[in-house]
Amino acid sequence: MFNKRTEVAKVLNDGQPGEEMIVMGWVRTFRNNQFIALNDGSTNINLQVVAPLGKFEDALLRRLNTGTAIRATGKVVASPGKGQRVELVADQIDILGDSDAEKYPLQPKKHSLEFLREIAHLRFRTNTFASVFRVRSIVAYAIHKFFVDKGFVYLHAPIITASDAEGAGETFHVTNFDLANVPKDEHGKVDFKEDFFGRSANLTVSGQLEAELAATALGNVYTFGPTFRAENSNTARHLAEFWMIEPEMAFYDLEDNMDLAEAFIKYIIRYALTHCPDDMAFLANRLAEEEKQKPQQERSEMGLVEKLQFVIDNNFERITYTEAIDILKNSNHNKKKKFQYPVNEWGIDLQSEHERYLVEKHFKKPVILYNYPKEIKAFYMRQNEDGRTVAAMDILAPGIGEIVGGSQREERLDQLQSRMKEMGISEEELFWYLDIRRFGTVPHAGFGLGFERMVQFITGMTNIRDVIPFPRYPKNVEF
Ligand code: 4AD
Ligand code: MG
Repeated sequence: MFNKRTEVAKVLNDGQPGEEMIVMGWVRTFRNNQFIALNDGSTNINLQVVAPLGKFEDALLRRLNTGTAIRATGKVVASPGKGQRVELVADQIDILGDSDAEKYPLQPKKHSLEFLREIAHLRFRTNTFASVFRVRSIVAYAIHKFFVDKGFVYLHAPIITASDAEGAGETFHVTNFDLANVPKDEHGKVDFKEDFFGRSANLTVSGQLEAELAATALGNVYTFGPTFRAENSNTARHLAEFWMIEPEMAFYDLEDNMDLAEAFIKYIIRYALTHCPDDMAFLANRLAEEEKQKPQQERSEMGLVEKLQFVIDNNFERITYTEAIDILKNSNHNKKKKFQYPVNEWGIDLQSEHERYLVEKHFKKPVILYNYPKEIKAFYMRQNEDGRTVAAMDILAPGIGEIVGGSQREERLDQLQSRMKEMGISEEELFWYLDIRRFGTVPHAGFGLGFERMVQFITGMTNIRDVIPFPRYPKNVEF
């Protein structure tokens, strides 16, 4: 058996002076021909492995470059140096894999996030990305734990579908046609009958519609999977492939939905803070350094951990779309024409500058906006009695903007059919969605949390491309 190693995190936490141990990992730095900073990914804190002077041959020591993989066997000792409780004095060092210092792109210095994005296959080896991906993993676990503990059923919604749940026309086609030779019908249109599925198919933009089918039998369900949108958005908040969590609950109204979403967000933040203290401390520090590069007035008032604690400790502000428009319209910011899109009238879709103004300048905390004009929302949202709004809710987070989108669903068959007609959505194609309203319909609601935006919020990373291992965005599908 090869793997008799002790993980560095365990050595650092539990290792007792005198214990014999085997560690394996990658050399981060080697200084004074004596001190190896060893990292194995179990923590962002390196283990100091000491190669006593004169004990090892020069030929071996010369190979201890940044990036080299080694196995070290030795004794744990109390560390005489500052900064670590224990270290390992090596009896034996074996090179598992050399790394050519001249050619290795990662040097023991600070690299920009932009540069690291171009070598995303190697960026896991940096402290920042190792921390981000450990936190991402713990957050994913926390999400499952939250719902499973509440008795929700985890539903695997299909990745390939024949519908556009959001109706925004931003789907990626799925086909096995020979693109140079696509079959056409007698009108010159693409003949999807000849295609793999016998009809036009696409990657899912949301698992919501399928989640509704399951919720109206199982009660409470959630999905957690990848979703795909062909929006041509080159921003720090958009990906073409992102993960979404979509809970859907029978016998829920909009207020129940908001209560669940708020409790859910607070739970996962708290979980990350308690279960990833070292990574969170590291990321907080990283963000503080980044903030120092900004002009004074653009720096945030709170550190990362402080900000997250504040979110946990305070109620989210809940206001209607109409109230939000009033606040924005009457703001000095608007009067001084500082918005790129001025706020003049009820009915406009809110731009991210408006959302961020409400959250960062006006309320200074997360905000739940609800009851939006029906014209700017999807067909499935429940129509309110005023005849012009729907029971929608978006949660806006400081520094991110929209993090959650959700609604109470239209459970009344007549109203749903008339809305679909107004919006030109085919009843025939969505017969299954309508059947739910035909047989034992009930009030129900749900929401979607953008997983990467949540991870961004928790880790303080400014660009969404830095919180998913291999980001997909316009003109990029590397690795
Ligand atoms: O607001 P959206 O489009 O809502 C839905 O898809 C609903 N079906 C959800 C539901 O009610 N079950 O998307 C939900 C969330 C957004 O609030 C945002 O956090 C994230 O998904 N999101 C994206 N994240 C990264 N890149 C993109 N292109 C995103 N588009 C949406
Ligand atoms: Mg939305």
